Amino acid sequence: MYACICFAVKERDVREAVSGGPVRMSDLCANLGVGTKCGRCVSALRDILRQATQESQLRAVNCEVYDQNFCREA
Ligand code: FES
Repeated sequence: MYACICFAVKERDVREAVSGGPVRMSDLCANLGVGTKCGRCVSALRDILRQATQESQLRAVNCEVYDQNFCREA
């Protein structure tokens, strides 16, 4: 689904950006152009960014817990 119609940026593009490390809205604007034309996408992009960041952090914590519990050296 498109998150920013003006620049043909999809929600998946935002999630991929977040998977590479912390991303701010200003990073998305600078790197993908989102929000810099009509601006209608900004609110939805903030929500997507917030959700993707939380999911990414949760995955990192889950991996850490998994590693601690199942990847100990014998
Ligand atoms: S929809 Fe994103 S700038 Fe227009």
